[in-house]
Amino acid sequence: MANTASIEIDGKKHEFPLVEGTENEVAIDITKLRSATNGVITIDPGFKNTGSCESGITFLDGEKGILRYRGYTIEELAEKADFLEVAYLLIFGELPTKEQNDKFHEDIKAQAVVDEDVKKILDAFPKSAHPMGVISSLTSALTAFNPSSVNVDSEEDMYRSVVKILGKFPVLVAWTFRKKEGLPLDYGDNSLGYVENILKMMFKKPNSEYKQNEILVNALDKLLILHADHEQNCSTSTVRIVGSSHAGLFASLSAGISALWGPLHGGANQAVLEMLEAIKLDGGDTKKYMAKAKDKEDPFRLMGFGHRVYKNFDPRARIIKKAADEVLGDLGVVDPILDIAKGLEKEALEDAYFVDRKLYPNVDFYSGIIYRAMGIPTDMFTVMFALGRLPGWISQWREMRLRKEPIGRPRQVYIGATERKFVPIEER
Ligand code: SDX
Repeated sequence: MANTASIEIDGKKHEFPLVEGTENEVAIDITKLRSATNGVITIDPGFKNTGSCESGITFLDGEKGILRYRGYTIEELAEKADFLEVAYLLIFGELPTKEQNDKFHEDIKAQAVVDEDVKKILDAFPKSAHPMGVISSLTSALTAFNPSSVNVDSEEDMYRSVVKILGKFPVLVAWTFRKKEGLPLDYGDNSLGYVENILKMMFKKPNSEYKQNEILVNALDKLLILHADHEQNCSTSTVRIVGSSHAGLFASLSAGISALWGPLHGGANQAVLEMLEAIKLDGGDTKKYMAKAKDKEDPFRLMGFGHRVYKNFDPRARIIKKAADEVLGDLGVVDPILDIAKGLEKEALEDAYFVDRKLYPNVDFYSGIIYRAMGIPTDMFTVMFALGRLPGWISQWREMRLRKEPIGRPRQVYIGATERKFVPIEER
């Protein structure tokens, strides 16, 4: 392949270099386009064809359904690693040795306490507040209680911020959940594993011992791994662009949480369960919802289906679908919603509208079924997604800052009114 691309504008040819990644992805480097062509730019709403950066963190191939974190396949990591190992891998680039992993966990535990005054902020929210709005606010508030900004060029300063947020965020998640449930705000137990502790902080009843359930621990650990990163998705791009102004890590993460909240993105896992519930209430009439999804006049979309990048099965959906069967089986839960989901999936995979548009189940289609079996309420599903995505956001923010990427400031093509004279109000 030639190593340049040529673009002809007004009869003049311009050459631009091609860059190629380690997985043979090719991009046209247009950093000189505007200056070389006297102001011509590209335009690409939704950035479907535009790369925002070079990154060495996550590789995915949407056509082949491949997903790897730092070169390790998602299938191997979900099977053989635990969430904290994967967090370390994403953020620092290598799987930790046992010593590194143990120290990482110890340092996170040392940070797993949140300033009591944060409870005053939590108390200010009505019980009806959506947990994503609460957790985004509490994450931003962490900046007030931990004002020292991160010196990304200092390994030790960055490490300190990483363990701080990995320690405190699960506490905020648990407090957000317990506040809504009317339960006292609890701390976990530093003798427990990272995921065991999350479950205990969330579900321990004030008047009884909390008994760990290995099935739930393993299921949540796997779900968090599967959600840990996904290259330049909407919320990660948000974290990167907010961080590119040199806003702090916690402020950038808070922005990412808000982006994830949208039903087209992380909010889809909640929307999937609401859709499946509606179908169940409708007597399981999946055909009606398939017709709605295909009707251009109807804004309804088949939630949990389709993906900007995957035009094949989302590899995470395969793993989660298998885990849903296992977890519900192990827990002895019979959930008609799972059967409706499988029926819907089968119909969609045989329907020309979905097949032609390469719309397959994505990560959000089955995850809610497991969360529900674990006793997590629907409006907390996207918070659980954020809990998993946290190390991915941190790793992408750190990479962007270490590579000294410029502040994100896209151009536009103006289509508004051309110059006109001001008209005094009396004459309008
Ligand atoms: C996540 O980017 C990531 O990596 C995200 C994520 C991550 O880990 O960070 O993977 C997590 O956000 C997964 C996606 C969760 N969202 C949903 O499940 C919501 C339902 N899906 C869609 O809204 C949609 O598929 C998107 C938003 C996910 C992708 O939209 P695109 O890439 O912009 O595709 P599009 O809207 O241009 O759709 C192409 C065609 C259109 O039809 P035509 O105009 O060609 O006739 O497919 C249709 C769309 O109408 N379509 C759907 C559909 N998704 C796309 N039709 C019905 N139901 C759907 N779900």
